[in-house]
Amino acid sequence: MITLRANAKINLSLDVLGKRKDGYHELDMVMQSVSLFDTVTVAQAHGIRVSMDVPGVDEQRNTAYTAAKAFCEITGCDGASIAVQKRIPSEAGLGGSSADAAAVLIGLNHLYQTNLSDETLSAIGVKIGADVPFALTGGTVRAGGIGEKLRPFTLGKPLHFVIVKPHAGVSTPQAFAAFKKASPIRMDSVQYALTAGDLSLYHKYADNALGMAALSLSPDIMRAADALKKAGARKAMMSGSGSAMFAVFASARQASEAAARVSGDFEHVGAYACAETGVQIMEDEA
Ligand code: C5P
Repeated sequence: MITLRANAKINLSLDVLGKRKDGYHELDMVMQSVSLFDTVTVAQAHGIRVSMDVPGVDEQRNTAYTAAKAFCEITGCDGASIAVQKRIPSEAGLGGSSADAAAVLIGLNHLYQTNLSDETLSAIGVKIGADVPFALTGGTVRAGGIGEKLRPFTLGKPLHFVIVKPHAGVSTPQAFAAFKKASPIRMDSVQYALTAGDLSLYHKYADNALGMAALSLSPDIMRAADALKKAGARKAMMSGSGSAMFAVFASARQASEAAARVSGDFEHVGAYACAETGVQIMEDEA
């Protein structure tokens, strides 16, 4: 049995470059793993079983199941018994289901000692979800393609975050369907600002091209943004296709003080730090 920590991500900035013939969108993003995580336990079994500690999750229609099925088909392995302790809110743009899938792939690769390469895991992962390749790697990354082309870089200074998720979520396909092209985001400047550790410059250039589309689907996003600004955030940013909003702070203390000042009725409010990986093995009893 193996226990893994599956970290959430935020999009420090996200631009949509265009639509591909297969319906997916070409993106240019800066992605960051954060210290909000699901705990995923994977054990060898005959057949695939998935249990989650949240109501309403179909045992077979979730990314943990899909990941295990794809892994077993490719490697010929018997199956897996998977338990997920969910902390990352769903329909939030925080990559929770991608993180779970990545943890299952890494967990099974360890348990069955199949030694699939990072490239193979990524190729399996991208078919499960566009954010899975990032979730397999994690850290701080400039991502292109549909999210699978990853160029890691190093932050000039560590960052801290407050994440606020309204009760209403946003469906990713609906957000992309509602997307209308606006002016391009200066992603090179965002990456430069983060590399230089210049938060003022980061706040000047960072944006999320899916913001207006998500807002049209879930007006509660504005309440989360207002709550963050009232709590002392310089700028409220949306992660992925929403509905989670976040703000960036220079220290853990600033972030935890701001999180304590967030008032209003939200599904999730918390202060987090950067995580260096997408998935971390916590316990390996294999
Ligand atoms: O791959 P994932 O399951 O995360 O994507 C969900 C949906 O979001 C896709 O079916 C597609 O409609 C949209 N999407 C997109 N372009 C991306 C990622 C997702 O259009 N790069």
